[in-house]
Amino acid sequence: MNTDAFLAWTTRTLAEVETALDAWVPAAAPAGLGDAMRYGVLDGGKRLRALLVQAAAEAVGARATPAGREAALRAACAVELIHAYSLVHDDMPCMDNDVLRRGKPTVHVAFGEAQAMLAGDAMQALAFEVLTPDEGEGAGVSPVLQARLVRLLARASGQAGMAGGQAIDLASVGQALNEATLRDMHQRKTGALLRASVQMGAACGGGAPEGAIWQALTAYGHAMGLAFQIVDDVLDETQASDKLGKTAGKDADANKPTYVALLGLDGARREAARLLGEALAALDRSGLPPTATTWLRALAERIVHRDH
Ligand code: IPE
Ligand code: IPE
Ligand code: MG
Ligand code: MG
Ligand code: MG
Repeated sequence: MNTDAFLAWTTRTLAEVETALDAWVPAAAPAGLGDAMRYGVLDGGKRLRALLVQAAAEAVGARATPAGREAALRAACAVELIHAYSLVHDDMPCMDNDVLRRGKPTVHVAFGEAQAMLAGDAMQALAFEVLTPDEGEGAGVSPVLQARLVRLLARASGQAGMAGGQAIDLASVGQALNEATLRDMHQRKTGALLRASVQMGAACGGGAPEGAIWQALTAYGHAMGLAFQIVDDVLDETQASDKLGKTAGKDADANKPTYVALLGLDGARREAARLLGEALAALDRSGLPPTATTWLRALAERIVHRDH
């Protein structure tokens, strides 16, 4: 893989996402809420979920039409809004009680707890607003595709996904979970949103949910979603706070069940590497030409081999 080409693609793609988020997250929301929302969403984060949406959309040819490009851009921004909201709430004193995020004080530290809670609420709503543009606003994203994207994102965000996983996380402090239970927690709290990112990108190409390409991309997203949180567990243990932009060593301090606690560092790394192999094998059997999946392959490597 040509790393210069990948860097050029991520730079171009993220500039598009950043410009759209800047336009869509309103500074004018009342009583300072807009400032808190923009602080939580803009200029920060690796944007890996947005990149997964765009890479999957490109793999299925969705970015070749204006409507497909518009749908993929909206999906990329929507998933980043949900993710940023989940981080704002995750950091609050009632959850992980963190003071540092993306190299800055967390939203509740900068704006107060009530405003952080409301900023998260408003980001969540905004994500679904972004997916359902008014007629004339959305460059022809069909109502059927809008509804499909909303459903994919809602399922990944709610009890079956992120919120459910976060509930298990908080209920499991101090407990030694077995692998199946830990996997279920990680797949919900983090994996579901990554998998949905890939599915949303694939949906922008209009593929049928029962098709081979859809199934393979779903398997890729499923493996990468779990791998992502396993690597997050590893980095929490091995990296410094300034590298991560968030407080390192929190999981052991807070007695959280993690893959590192269960399998040790080497065991967790091995599991992430195994899942990388699974994800790449899913792309191999997708039936998509290898040139179509270049960015998805590169993202999988980045997710597993990242250092922050
Ligand atoms: C951190 O996600 C929270 C988890 C779900 C593990 P990221 O590592 O993607 O955070 P940002 O968006 O880059 O800040
Ligand atoms: C968070 O997991 C998952 C979310 C749904 C936000 P963590 O609690 O491990 O995320 P970090 O380490 O604070 O980013
Ligand atoms: Mg947490
Ligand atoms: Mg946390
Ligand atoms: Mg973590």
